[in-house]
Amino acid sequence: MLSTRIAGIGMYVPEQVFTNDDLKEYMETSDEWIQERTGIQQRRYAHRTEETTTTMGVEAAKIAIERAGTTAADIDFIIFATLSPDYYFPGCGVLLQRAMKMKEIGALDIRNQCSGFVYAISVADQFIKTGMYKNILVVGSEKHSFGLDFSTRGRNISVIFGDGAGAVVLQPAQKEGQGILSTHLHSDGESAELLAMYNPGTHANHWVKDKLADFPDAPIADMFMSHEMIDKAQNFPYMDGPSVFKKAIVKFPEVVMEALAKNNLSTTDLSMLIPHQANLRISQFVQQKLGLGDHQVHNNIQKFGNTTAASVPIALCEAWEEGKIKEGDLVCLAAFGSGYTWASALIRW
Ligand code: ACO
Repeated sequence: MLSTRIAGIGMYVPEQVFTNDDLKEYMETSDEWIQERTGIQQRRYAHRTEETTTTMGVEAAKIAIERAGTTAADIDFIIFATLSPDYYFPGCGVLLQRAMKMKEIGALDIRNQCSGFVYAISVADQFIKTGMYKNILVVGSEKHSFGLDFSTRGRNISVIFGDGAGAVVLQPAQKEGQGILSTHLHSDGESAELLAMYNPGTHANHWVKDKLADFPDAPIADMFMSHEMIDKAQNFPYMDGPSVFKKAIVKFPEVVMEALAKNNLSTTDLSMLIPHQANLRISQFVQQKLGLGDHQVHNNIQKFGNTTAASVPIALCEAWEEGKIKEGDLVCLAAFGSGYTWASALIRW
């Protein structure tokens, strides 16, 4: 069976930089609070009217396609991971297909939040391995700045997230032993409501309320969409931060070790871990638990915040551009997020 390699990688972040101090104009917060708990110093926000999740994905895709030595016309499948799509439906995959004037190829959207890109890589890997497709474009992109509560009420979440996009082109590997060695996907829906955006949605209000009995502040609305919902700020995400932290620091190392064990490798073999940029404290905890050196982990949440489905490809692209990833290196992508879902991909570059 063929294996799959990353033939080209690209990233795009909007021009507009928002520092922690800039956020003080909208909410009561401080650079010290944000840096101490998340490591974030600044993030990028997309242009309000000129940029969308799709347009940022297109910019990252153009670079990935060029670096793969191919053209948009050669792409035979699109996988687009995002939680902040341009429309509730249809998904961003078809919008990218239209914007890039691609052929009438398949376009699949993945809704797996922070682990979306790693899930997407796994799906693409199966199609390449079976020989069904030869040039798959995988994109992770987010325009969070349009869906956050920038008042003091929403500050525990809004300070964490930023906008941006990353993309890769996957092709059949050219050498024995090169490419994706294995991927590992997991979920546990038991805590689905602890990191979620309920509205607009088709949930039965009483059912969500039962699930969230211990979280009276969770923003649950009675209708799919109403004026009251907006007045009460029920259209914003909810996160129980400590629960996310506790689960993430267990599942991140577990899924990295699972990938290494599957391939009879150990942490000393790992050239580079690219963790989803959830929170610098989570990444540091994971690094310590795995006993990895600073040279084995790439973090850039300090500059870009948490860009959810875009964070892994942005960090991977940056590490590659900085020369931290070279041919033959062992690279592990790992992500954990809402769902909860978590995943890893082990790659021989
Ligand atoms: N600026 C200043 N003060 C704030 C802010 C802010 N941005 N946000 C909350 N506070 C205040 C709260 O109002 C509260 O004040 P009080 O004690 O007077 O009531 C105090 O700070 C503590 O608030 P908590 O919500 O309890 O904050 P906590 O210490 O738990 O930190 C955080 C929040 C950083 C989110 C933490 O829970 C955490 O690290 N969680 C991990 C989850 C995470 O990082 N998720 C990232 C996205 S999800 C993902 O990618 C998987």
